[in-house]
Amino acid sequence: MTPCNLKTSLIDFSSCRCDTPAPPAPAAAGGSAGQFRGQARLPRFAAPRHYELRLRPDLVACTFSGTVAITLTVTASTQFLVLNAADLSVNSTSVRFQALTPTEVVLFKEDGILVLGFAKQLPLGDGVLKMDFSGTLNDQMRGFYRSKYQYKGKERNMAVTQFESVDARRCFPCWDEPAFKAKFKLTLEVPSELTAMSNMPVANTTFAGPIKILRYQESPLMSTYLVAIVVGLFEYVEGMTVKGTRVRVYTQVGKSSQGKFALDVGVKSLNLFKDYFGTPYPLPKLDMVAIPDFAAGAMENYGLVTYRDVALLFDDKSSSASGKQKVAITVAHELAHQWFGNLVTMEWWTHLWLNEGFATWVSHLAVDTFFPQWNIWAQFLDSTTTALRLDSLEESHPIEVEIYHASEVDQIFDAISYEKGASVIRMLHSYLGADRFQTALASYIKKYAYSNAKTEDLWAVFEKETGEPVKDLMTSWTKQKGYPVINAKLKGNDMELEQAQFLLDGSSGPGMWIVPITSGCGAYDTQKKFLLKLKRDKLVIALQCGDRKKGGNFWTKLNVNGTGFYRVKYDDELGAALQNALETKKLSLMDKIGILDDAHALSIARQQTLASLLRLLYCYRGEADYSVLSHINSVTASIAKISFDATPGLAADIKQLLIKILLSPAEKLGWDPKNGESHLDVMLRPMLLIALVQLGHGKTINEGVRRFNIFIHDHNTALLPPDTRKAAYLAVMQNVTSSNRSGYDALRKVYKESAEGEERLRVLGILSSCQDKGIVLESLNLIFTDEVRSQDAYVPLRGLQTEAREIAWNWLKENWERISKTISASSLVGDFIKAIVPLFTSNAKASEISQFFATRTAPGFERTVKQSLENVQISARWVEGIKSEPGLAQTVRELLGKP
Ligand code: BES
Ligand code: ZN
Repeated sequence: MTPCNLKTSLIDFSSCRCDTPAPPAPAAAGGSAGQFRGQARLPRFAAPRHYELRLRPDLVACTFSGTVAITLTVTASTQFLVLNAADLSVNSTSVRFQALTPTEVVLFKEDGILVLGFAKQLPLGDGVLKMDFSGTLNDQMRGFYRSKYQYKGKERNMAVTQFESVDARRCFPCWDEPAFKAKFKLTLEVPSELTAMSNMPVANTTFAGPIKILRYQESPLMSTYLVAIVVGLFEYVEGMTVKGTRVRVYTQVGKSSQGKFALDVGVKSLNLFKDYFGTPYPLPKLDMVAIPDFAAGAMENYGLVTYRDVALLFDDKSSSASGKQKVAITVAHELAHQWFGNLVTMEWWTHLWLNEGFATWVSHLAVDTFFPQWNIWAQFLDSTTTALRLDSLEESHPIEVEIYHASEVDQIFDAISYEKGASVIRMLHSYLGADRFQTALASYIKKYAYSNAKTEDLWAVFEKETGEPVKDLMTSWTKQKGYPVINAKLKGNDMELEQAQFLLDGSSGPGMWIVPITSGCGAYDTQKKFLLKLKRDKLVIALQCGDRKKGGNFWTKLNVNGTGFYRVKYDDELGAALQNALETKKLSLMDKIGILDDAHALSIARQQTLASLLRLLYCYRGEADYSVLSHINSVTASIAKISFDATPGLAADIKQLLIKILLSPAEKLGWDPKNGESHLDVMLRPMLLIALVQLGHGKTINEGVRRFNIFIHDHNTALLPPDTRKAAYLAVMQNVTSSNRSGYDALRKVYKESAEGEERLRVLGILSSCQDKGIVLESLNLIFTDEVRSQDAYVPLRGLQTEAREIAWNWLKENWERISKTISASSLVGDFIKAIVPLFTSNAKASEISQFFATRTAPGFERTVKQSLENVQISARWVEGIKSEPGLAQTVRELLGKP
C-alpha cells in the first residue's frame, strides 16, 4: 500500500538527544576536588582496565575489609582521579597512584563520588591505583549485604552482593558505570567451612587456620554492576550444556531437589541462546543461587545469577503451575542477559531497556520453545496490556530516558523499560520476520561483544542487515512516550486510518509514530502489512474481506494478534462486524484479547460507554481459554471497582452480570484437578475461583471455606492443592472480623508454620483482604515485625480491597516516616504508593494525596506518585462519565435477563 496523499512530512527524530553527555574534562591544571560535586557521570580522562580485588567479609561482625589495585589508563592530562565509592571508609593514607600520594581524598556522599587530587599532573598512559577500605555488610539488600538463613535450627548470616544499578561502589571503589568495562580478578578470605562463589571459577585455594583464601580466575571484560559474590552454606544440583559448560543451582541445605526444574530450564536456555545469538556462552561456568533476602526477583550477575527463593525453586508437591512458569521465565530472562546485557552492555542507563526489554522478549521466545503448550505468547499480551496502560498516562516516559544522576536509575526499572520495551521488540520482530530479525540480532551481538552499545547502534545493524528503515521506525517508539490509537473508518469498500496519541484522560497528545499496520480477516490467510507514516493524513486500503454492499461477512481486524503497540478504534459498522466475528468464533485468541483490551481502555477514556463495554464483555461468555479469560478477568475487576463509586445502586447487579460471565467456565473446571488436564487449565481454575470469591459469589465462598476447614486439619488433603489454595484463603477472609477472627488466626498459623516461600507469600498476600479495620491494620503492621522480611514488605498490601482504602491511606500517612526510613529501596516505597493511591476515584482525594506528597518525594518514587495521582484523576473522570451515562441500568438488566 502506498499513502494516498502525502501532505505532511515524516517524523524526524534526528535532533532528539537522550544521552546524557559525559562531563567535560576539567581544566588541565588547578581547581579543587569540589568541581566534581553533583556530577551525573564520571569524567573520561582516566579509565580502568583491570581490578585486582581482595575482600575479607566478617559474617559475625557484619563488616568487611578489602584492598583494590586498579590498573588504569590516563588519556588526558589531569591532576585528579575521579571514581565512585559510597558508604565505604577509604583509608586515605593507603591511597597510591604508582608512587604518588594524593594531596586530597574527598568523598561526595550524595553523589557517591571519590575524588583523589594530586599535587601535579598525572603521567599519561597506564598506572596502578591502590587503596585499602572497609565497610559494613548492610541490611539493605544492596551493595555487599547480609542475608539470614536457618541452619540446624540456628540463624546464620550469609554475605551477598547486589550491584545493579549503582551499588558496586558500596563494596569497593570503582568506576561504577556500565561503559567502564574492565577485567576482574578476585580473592576472597572466608571461613573454611563456607561456600564462596564469584563470577569465575576458583583458580586456587589456600588455607590459613580457620580461614581459606580463594583466588578466582580472571574475568573477561565486564561492567562493575555485574560483579558478584555469595558466601554461605549451600547445597547444589549440577548439569551440563551440550558444549560442556557446567551449570549448578545452589539452594539452602536440604532443598537442592527444588533446584532441578530451574537447572533443566537453565541448561536448555544456554543451549538455545548460543544458537539464537550465534555466540557461545562466554564463561567457563554458570551458577544460580537462591538468596533468602533479595530486593529484586533475580539478578543476572555474570556467571553467578542470584534469585529470590520463589523465582528459582520449584517443588512438585508444594508449588503451583503459575509458580513453575515464573521460574521458567525468570531463569530464561537472566540467562538471556548473559549475552544481552553482560556480553553486550548498554552504554548508559538511558539504554537500560536494551537489557530489560530484550531479556523479557527473549525469555518468552525460550519458554515458548521449551513449553509450547503454555501458549506463552498469548500470555505475553498481559505484559503489552500493562505497558499500554502505563504509557497512556501523561506522566509516562519514553523508553529511552535521560538519566542525570545515579539516584534516578532505580525508577526506570518499570513497565516501560520491560513490558513496553519487549512489546516494541515483538512489533519489530513481526514486521521483519523471524529469520531476518535473528540474523540481525546475532550480527549485533558479534559486533559489540565485550563492549557497549546504544539503542541507535542496534538499529544501525538492523538496517544494514535487512535494508529496512528500522532506525526511523523504531526511534518513533523509543524516543517519545505514549502510543497511538488508530481510528478506522469504513469508506465504501475501503478503510481509512488515522493516528492520534491515546491518553486515558480522554485528551489526544501530540505524538506521531511510524506504525506497522497489519490487517487480517477470514482464516487470516489474507493478512496485509504496511507502514502508516503520516501525521494527519489518512491511508486508504481496500477492504479485504467480503463486500459490504452484498452483505455478509466483511469484518477486518487491524493489529493482527496484537503484535503492534497501539490500539484501534473502529467506527460503529466495523465494530459491529467484528463483534459478529467474535460471536461466530472467527477470531484468533490474541485478537479476542486485543479487542477487549482496546474497548476497556476506550471506555476508561470515555470514548465508549460502559454499557457497550458490558455488551462486548457479554459476547465472551462461554470462553474457555486461559489467556483470554485472564483479560476478561482484569476487565471485570476494573468494572467492579469503578461501579463501587460510579453506580452504587447498580453495583450489585453489575457484579451479578460479571459473575454470570465467569461462572460457566469456572463450573466446568470445578475445584478439583483432573487427571491429565493441561497446564493452562491448572492455571485457569484458581484465576476463576479467585475472581468469583472477589465478586462475592456465595457458593464459591462457601466451598472455599469448607475446603479450608478440612485443610487446617490435614495439610496434605487432596481437596486443597497449592493451585487452589489462594481462592480458599480469600474465601475465608471474606467472613473475618475482629470479633470473628478464627479463620484469620488459622491463616496466620499457616503462614508461621510453612517453610515454603510460595505458600508464605500466598498467605501474606491475602491477609489484608477484608473490610474490618482492626484486621486490616494488624495485617499491614506485620511489615514492622520480624515475621515479614523486608524484601516482602509490599506483599501484605497486595490484598487491599477498595472498601479498605481509607484505612490503608491513613495507615500510610501515619507510618510514613517509619516506612520511608526502614524500607530502604525506593522502589519498594513506590510499591506502597501504587498499592494504595489508585484505589481512590475522586479529584478531592487526589488533591489531598498530592498535598501530602508535596513535601515528601524523592527521586526514587517521584514519578510513581505522579502516575498514581493521574490514575486517580482518570478514575474520577470515568466515574463522572458513568454517572451520567443513559441506559446503563437497562443494559445491565437486559444482559442479566431481568425484566
Ligand atoms: N536486572 C534485573 C534485576 C534488577 C532489577 C536489578 C531492578 C536492579 C534493579 C533482572 O534481570 C530482572 O529483570 N529481574 C526481574 C525478573 C524478570 C523475570 C523480569 C525482577 O527482578 O523482577
Ligand atoms: Zn532483566
